[in-house]
Amino acid sequence: MTESLATVAYLGAAILFILSLGGLSHPETARRGNLLGMLGMGLAVLATIFGPRVSQSGVVAIVIALVLGGGIGLYAAKRVKMTQMPELVALMHSLVGLAACLVGFASYVDTSHPLQGAEKAIHAAEIYIGILIGAVTFSGSLVAFGKLNGRIGGKPLLLPGRHLLNLLGLVVVVVLGCWFVQSASLGLGMLALLVMTAIALLFGLHMVMAIGGADMPVVVSMLNSYSGWAAAATGFMLGNDLLIVTGALVGSSGAILSYIMCQAMNRSFISVIAGGFGSGAPVAAGQAPQGEVVAISAAETAEMLREAKRVVIVPGYGMAVAQAQHTVNEITRTLRERGVEVRFAIHPVAGRMPGHMNVLLAEAKLPYDIVLEMDEINDDFPDTDVAMVIGANDIVNPAAQDDPSSPIAGMPVLKVWKARQSIVMKRSMATGYAGVDNPLFYKDNNRMLFGDAKQMLDEVLATLKS
Ligand code: TAP
Repeated sequence: MTESLATVAYLGAAILFILSLGGLSHPETARRGNLLGMLGMGLAVLATIFGPRVSQSGVVAIVIALVLGGGIGLYAAKRVKMTQMPELVALMHSLVGLAACLVGFASYVDTSHPLQGAEKAIHAAEIYIGILIGAVTFSGSLVAFGKLNGRIGGKPLLLPGRHLLNLLGLVVVVVLGCWFVQSASLGLGMLALLVMTAIALLFGLHMVMAIGGADMPVVVSMLNSYSGWAAAATGFMLGNDLLIVTGALVGSSGAILSYIMCQAMNRSFISVIAGGFGSGAPVAAGQAPQGEVVAISAAETAEMLREAKRVVIVPGYGMAVAQAQHTVNEITRTLRERGVEVRFAIHPVAGRMPGHMNVLLAEAKLPYDIVLEMDEINDDFPDTDVAMVIGANDIVNPAAQDDPSSPIAGMPVLKVWKARQSIVMKRSMATGYAGVDNPLFYKDNNRMLFGDAKQMLDEVLATLKS
């Protein structure tokens, strides 16, 4: 394949990636978006393998790597449960970071194309920045993976003087970088790279360890953005235009997603990207809720739903765990056939990944027009007869608004307690992801339906149909 044909293929792939991102913005077009992304990636891989820069022996090595990596990826994707998706994504981000580091070191020791003057300095800067972003992404994503799958405790590790430590690390990295770009000695340059890599790895580790509870989603999307910039940096090192474009697309879309999530969680975007997230103060425990909890049965729940005119269903992580979305669809259909208005309220960080609930509801074939975002439906709760919360906790916690000492203070939540009646379906009084008690459970107009969401909803459906 000639250079110009490869460039045209790269351009086609870049356009497919942009169309793919556009498709992914809505559940209805997400499948098409995925397909376009896969086509784009297929085209990019083919254009790279058969492009002018890869030799015959290189093709064999690439095919072996493709089969190996693709096989592992396929196996992991087949085995992973929907609720484990964020962990898998975090692990994949760490691989992008690792790849950027390895490419950086390989470019540094590769002396087959000696450069001089400004070109040499620019290439050195590309290597330095590429490894820096790659190392932060690598260690930060590994810690995020550990926190998401519970191997590392969710509590934030707040070292004394941590901002000072970060600042000191930054100063050393900048000074070393200036020296590295001008350095003529391969050995001393390598030493500078290794020291910087160690600092960057520690920074990534420290940054994510300092984040706890409900703030993790923003970190995952921020690491997604970092992995994009790491890929773009790799593109600069390798002189590969498509990698630069693709990395920039991932980096900027990840940054936009982080910004949206920061808004949804009332967090400062600047302090997130700077890694100086949250306050330096110890995490508050919040006030202990007071009052009595009133439990009801599935049959009573069905009765309440049957008599309601307007119902809002709030799905959360527990619905995903119980895989109750198909029963939810059945219940919705049954209620709508009886003339009950049923709508869904989706919190931006419900579940464990962006769009988690939308994906599950789309899988169960719920009509999109009754699935509403938090801002679209939050004012409608006072006119709602029954708000049914299915396996959600943090996203319906009134303490976020009423208790300034709560660790989730300031996070916008779905105001289900404003409905005439709220019903919370979960197995116990246990806390949610943020580890915070929920005063909603103790409100006079709230009832608790204890049990596995799927099992309880099956019983509700059976009563509704009887
Ligand atoms: P959570 O606050 O985590 O609450 C989920 C509740 O579901 C738990 O309290 C649990 O209570 C219940 N549950 C678990 N399995 C169940 C089952 N089989 N049947 C019925 N209930 C079950 O979830 P949420 O309200 O969706 O909020 C999401 C939280 O995750 C937020 O804190 C958010 O910041 C965080 N987070 C979100 C993301 C993204 S991007 N969405 C990523 C990482 C973290 P029981 O144990 O008593 O049943």
